[in-house]
Amino acid sequence: AIDISRLRKDTGLITLDDGYANTGSAKSAITFIDGEKGILRYRGVPIEDLAERSSFIETAELLIFGELPDEEERADFRSLLTENSALHRDMRKHFDGFPVNAHPMSILSAMVNALQAHDIPEHRFTDENGFREAAASLLAKTRTIAAASYKSHIGQPIAYPRYDLPYAENFLHMMFSVPYRDYEATPEVAHALNMFLVLHADHEQNCSTSTVRMVASSGANLYASVSAGINALWGPLHGGANMGVIDMLEHIHEGSWTAKQYVDRAKDKHSGVKLMGFGHRVYRNFDPRARILKEAAHNLLDAMHIDDPLLDIAREVEQAALADDYFASRQLYPNVDFYSGIILRAIGIPLDMFTVLFAIGRTPGWIAHWKEVADDPRQRINRPRQVYVGPNLSQWVPRAER
Ligand code: ACO
Repeated sequence: AIDISRLRKDTGLITLDDGYANTGSAKSAITFIDGEKGILRYRGVPIEDLAERSSFIETAELLIFGELPDEEERADFRSLLTENSALHRDMRKHFDGFPVNAHPMSILSAMVNALQAHDIPEHRFTDENGFREAAASLLAKTRTIAAASYKSHIGQPIAYPRYDLPYAENFLHMMFSVPYRDYEATPEVAHALNMFLVLHADHEQNCSTSTVRMVASSGANLYASVSAGINALWGPLHGGANMGVIDMLEHIHEGSWTAKQYVDRAKDKHSGVKLMGFGHRVYRNFDPRARILKEAAHNLLDAMHIDDPLLDIAREVEQAALADDYFASRQLYPNVDFYSGIILRAIGIPLDMFTVLFAIGRTPGWIAHWKEVADDPRQRINRPRQVYVGPNLSQWVPRAER
């Protein structure tokens, strides 16, 4: 990579790089990816170890603060999460303002933006203890907002967080407990959701994280920056793909298309159809997260004695695509979204909450990247250039003569 960041003034030279495929937008010490070899590491720790052994919150601490926490740090951070789980009473009014069928991603982004107005003094972002608390608050409150928006949507009372439960179990409790009947996640379900969150926790300069960094570069606060990231994640080419995959598999299941026909449609550029959950800008061999999730989906369904026909269809689609020259020659493989939906379905997460689950998982990464930008004394405002292709000089024509 050539570092031209030292050319701090306008040189008159503009590189145009479609989709930023070959443009480094930042120096970062958070996450390493080798797309050719299928390697992913958070702060140097292999994703396979974290997925199997690490809790979501200690993974978040690793990403945000740079190191795996010791027992005391874990306990302190856990207390901060507990203390910051509840939303300000007045935020209830925001929920009431949304139509009942509002997409949970629009609720999440609006509410995260509103957090700044309700309970975070500006100083929290700058001093280290304040930042720690803001980070814990954001992690805790995205979970609360997500579960509360689901409860509002189905017309049930909000379930309050339980302070004795780990993060993933607590989320499930808030989603599925009803008055007088607390939901208790089985260890298999809790493990699967924890793993899902760990695998989504960061992925270097993806679209939503780059958005967070872009907004942060103007000096915007943590909440405003993360809210922007949530909106970027919502798109079907990014986090929204996890819903798209299930839609696709359901279409095939209903008999509208066979797996092979769907794969053929996705090859036709005029069909407007892509193979959802396939392809990645960086991975050109395989996505290690997809490999882990495929096995996890199989194990979870086995443990829960669920026979989900969509898992078989997913395997069929994968085989059909991998055997096809179009996908092979373009190095398109299943990505993180391909099997994750099977896990979320088995757990009972409704389809329109899938991308919200991705957002909860990605929050540690967004926080870590926001901090990296905020802490860099050399950070300039991110401001790409363009190659202008409009008219050179046009005349202003009076209205009557147009
Ligand atoms: N189905 C069919 N064709 C595809 C697919 C796909 N899923 N993905 C890429 N291609 C084709 C492109 O049309 C292009 O073909 P061409 O060279 O003949 O023009 C070629 O493969 C290269 O693809 P690009 O679009 O240049 O790849 P890019 O890096 O820009 O996009 C992306 C990556 C957005 C992930 C793309 O593969 C895609 O749209 N996948 C489906 C949506 C998806 O699963 N998104 C989730 C991504 S992971 C994440 O955000 C969590």
